[in-house]
Amino acid sequence: MRKLNVGLVGAGFMGKAHVVGYSNMPKLFWPAPAIPVMKTICDIDPAIAADAKERFGFEKWTDNYMDIINDPDIDVVSVCTPNNAHAEIAIAALEAGKHVICEKPIASTLEDAIRMAKAAKAAEEKGIISMNAYQYRRVPALVLAKKFIDEGSLGKILNVRCTYLQSWCADPSSPLSWRFQKAIAGAGTLGDIASHVIDIAQYLAGDIDEVVSMMRTYIKERPVQEGGVDLLGTVKLGDDVPKAPVDVDDEDSFLVKFKSGAVGSIEATRNAWGRNNFITVELHGTLGSIYFNYERLNELQVCWANDPDDRRGFKTIYTGPAHFYGEATWNIPGMNIGYGELKTIEMYDFIRAIVEQKQPSTKFSVGCRVEQVCAAVEKSAQTRQWEKVIEE
Ligand SMILES: NC(=O)c1ccc[n+]([C@@H]2O[C@H](COP(=O)([O-])OP(=O)(O)OC[C@H]3O[C@@H](n4cnc5c(N)ncnc54)[C@H](O)[C@@H]3O)[C@@H](O)[C@H]2O)c1
Repeated sequence: MRKLNVGLVGAGFMGKAHVVGYSNMPKLFWPAPAIPVMKTICDIDPAIAADAKERFGFEKWTDNYMDIINDPDIDVVSVCTPNNAHAEIAIAALEAGKHVICEKPIASTLEDAIRMAKAAKAAEEKGIISMNAYQYRRVPALVLAKKFIDEGSLGKILNVRCTYLQSWCADPSSPLSWRFQKAIAGAGTLGDIASHVIDIAQYLAGDIDEVVSMMRTYIKERPVQEGGVDLLGTVKLGDDVPKAPVDVDDEDSFLVKFKSGAVGSIEATRNAWGRNNFITVELHGTLGSIYFNYERLNELQVCWANDPDDRRGFKTIYTGPAHFYGEATWNIPGMNIGYGELKTIEMYDFIRAIVEQKQPSTKFSVGCRVEQVCAAVEKSAQTRQWEKVIEE
C-alpha cells in the first residue's frame, strides 16, 4: 500500500489533533487510500518538538520548518502553528511540491490568504493538493443537511442563522496568549471561531455577498502569557503577572446576505458562560427547516413543511452507519463520533484527495473566501454600513 511521509509543523493542540487524525485514519477507513507515516515533527520550541517526537511517534524532530521543506522524503505537510506563520510555511511547502493541510483561519492577513490561494492554484496544476482545516463541514449531520439542500428537499433557502459560542475567554484572568494578539492571530473571535461558521454557512447556502456587523472587545487587558502553547483559559494568572492590552475582538455579530438571495445572521463569542463549543446552524427553506448543535453533533433536527398539521415539528435524526462516513467510523447505530473521529474524517478526505488527485472541498481558495468575508465584517464594524465581500 502507498505510504505518504508526513512533516508536521506546530506541536500544540492542533498538532495533536492532526496526529490523531493521521494515525486513526487507516484504522477506521480500510482499505485506506494510503498510509500516513509520522516522519518529522517541528516546533519552534525545541523542548516541545523533542517531547512531541516521543509522544506522537515521529522518526525525527526539528525546530526549523525548512528541514521539512528541504527533505525530499516528505510528501505531506501539516501546518498547525499560530496564524501568522501559516503563509510562509504553506507557500514554501507548496513550492517544494508537497501536499499541504493548513489549519484555519488560512492566514492572519487577507494579503497572506490571497498569496496562499495563488500559490495553491499554481501548485494545483502540478497535481499538488491544498486543504484548509475547516473540519466542521464534515460532521455527518451537516453533510446530511447539505444533501437535503442539494436534492431540494428543503426548497428554496430563505434564512441561515449560525452561532459559535464558547466561554473560555470570559474570565479576565485567562492569560493573554497568542490568540489575543493581532500581530500573531490577525483577529480574535472572528478568525478563531466565527470563521468556522462562515465556512459552514457558505458550504450550505453558497457565497456570502454582503455583511453588516458589530465587533466588541469586553476585556481590554489580560495577564501576559510568555510563549508556549495556548492553554485556552485552563490556567488563570494572578494580579502579580504584568498585564498588556488586548487588541482583538471578543465578540462579533453580523447580518449576512447570500448571493442566492437568502439572508441570515452569525454570532460568535468566546465570552459566553455556559456555552462550550456551541456551534449552531438553523436553516429555513420553503419546504422545511433544519437545526444542528455541535454539542449534540450526532443529531440533525429536521422539520418538513408537508407533514400533516397535527404532526409537523422538528424530529431528530441520529447519524450513524446509514450516513456519511458511518460505515467506516462505527457501524453500530448510537456509538457516535466526537472531535477525534472528525479530525480522522478530515485526514481521510485529505489523503484521498492526494491519491485520487482531486482537490478537496476546502482547498485554499475556499479558506481565502472565508477570509474575504472576515475582511468585510471588519470593514463594516468600522463604517457601520453594509459592506460587499470583495473577491480578488
Ligand atoms: N480546526 C480547529 O478546530 C482548530 C482548533 C484549534 C486551533 N486551530 C488552529 O490551529 C492553529 C494552531 O493552534 P493551536 O491551538 O494548536 O496552538 P497552540 O498554541 O496549542 O500550538 C501552537 C504551537 O506552534 C508552535 N509554533 C509557533 N510558531 C511556530 C513556528 N514558526 N514554527 C514552528 N512551530 C511554531 C508553538 O511553539 C506551539 O507549540 C491555529 O491556526 C489555530 O487557529 C484550529
